[in-house]
Amino acid sequence: MRRYDDKVNTPRAIRFYRPIWPISAYIHRERLHLRGFDVAGLAARLGTPLYLYDGATFDHAVAAYRAGLRAWPGPSAISYAAKAWFNRPFARVLARRGLHIDAVSEGELGVALAAGFPAGRIHVHGNNKSPTLARMAARAGVAAWVVDHPQELALLARLSDEGERIPDLWLRFTPALSAPTHPYRQTGHRESKFGMSRDEILLAAEQIHKHPKLRLTGLHAHIGSQIFDLDPMFEACDRLIALFAELRERGHASLRVLSPGGGLGAPYHPDDPRLSLFQNVERIVRHCAATWARMAKAPHPTLLLEPGRSLIARAGLALYTVGAVRMLENGRRIIAVDGGMADNVRPALYRARYTACAAAAALAQPLGPARIVGPLCESGDFLIDKIDLPPLSVGDILAIPMSGAYHLSMASNYNGALRPAVYWLHRDDLIPFQRRETIADLLARDLPLPLIAL
Ligand SMILES: Cc1ncc(COP(=O)(O)O)c(C=O)c1O
Repeated sequence: MRRYDDKVNTPRAIRFYRPIWPISAYIHRERLHLRGFDVAGLAARLGTPLYLYDGATFDHAVAAYRAGLRAWPGPSAISYAAKAWFNRPFARVLARRGLHIDAVSEGELGVALAAGFPAGRIHVHGNNKSPTLARMAARAGVAAWVVDHPQELALLARLSDEGERIPDLWLRFTPALSAPTHPYRQTGHRESKFGMSRDEILLAAEQIHKHPKLRLTGLHAHIGSQIFDLDPMFEACDRLIALFAELRERGHASLRVLSPGGGLGAPYHPDDPRLSLFQNVERIVRHCAATWARMAKAPHPTLLLEPGRSLIARAGLALYTVGAVRMLENGRRIIAVDGGMADNVRPALYRARYTACAAAAALAQPLGPARIVGPLCESGDFLIDKIDLPPLSVGDILAIPMSGAYHLSMASNYNGALRPAVYWLHRDDLIPFQRRETIADLLARDLPLPLIAL
């Protein structure tokens, strides 16, 4: 495997490695630009940490999914996994693009509904859904409830007895295989906390069949996230389709949605495998179509793909201001910036690797290895463990690509960190999506002390 961050004098093509930057990004006179905007200038004007999302990159990814799904002979849809990054303005973008949403909590469902996202395109997932979420989903009229374990059926039956209209049910299947990804991102292995075995699925399907008000319409699996090797995905699709065919043979004729989840990897670093999103989506879809033709004779169900990261990670750019530069005795620099694990916990959580550039000197000759750290009271508060960067001084802007997914949705207020402002670039307009958090936001949940002294 190539490991560019172990070397000094990183080549220019790697210092700005196109596949991991937003498609509207380019370098002009050494300075990073995003469709006409000078990025360092924007950061100086809007403050940092700052997240910029490039709408063109997101639309490009959606188009790749749509094109790949054409290889499926039946109907198809894309359901965006809201956990990757979500807020009201983005929910509106998703609604306008005709996407569906996978929501896993009262919070995600609440945001989607507040944005006016059509309930008929929302699917509710989760391994421990609350009765409140169930009631909320039923009243909103969501499209589907993805049953994760058999006890959920008792909850739904109870709600139905109370007169709630229960959404269509899908069953989440655990295909019992380990996806080649970080263990924390594996979800389809035998010991996974998510989903049901084949036997549990057959039993749950029978229970649903016997209940006059419950209706089984879909079968779902999701084996993990940030997966580059498609073979386990193919295997998961085969097992899912075999079970789908078996359920149909057993008389579950209302089954009409086949959902092999999301999880396609996205390169974050020049060392990562380079992917054509379209080709990989198409390969998965073709594989499903071939397996379906071999195993199931019935008309094609709706094929529903459920990506998060591969739709939105590349669109996001994180910008930070350098606050301190220290040179260690071994010649390595420690560069402290004004964001870190509070807005991007992935390096601490998964040892995720990133690259970066100095926004005002993107292709400048590197000086040698540096560690990019944040301001929080944790040695695990780092963004990049090792990177070859040019000289950087206090006040310079550092840009980190591939910051669109699982950053802000996992952000915290640790050490009182204020969550960054977010802007969305739509053609030539920079649209504010979320303002920066303020101290007033931090105080908003605190209640006045009662008069009795504590
Ligand atoms: C059920 C489900 N569907 C879809 C996704 C999206 O995965 P990714 O962002 O890797 O595409 C996830 C996240 O792991 C998930 O848990």
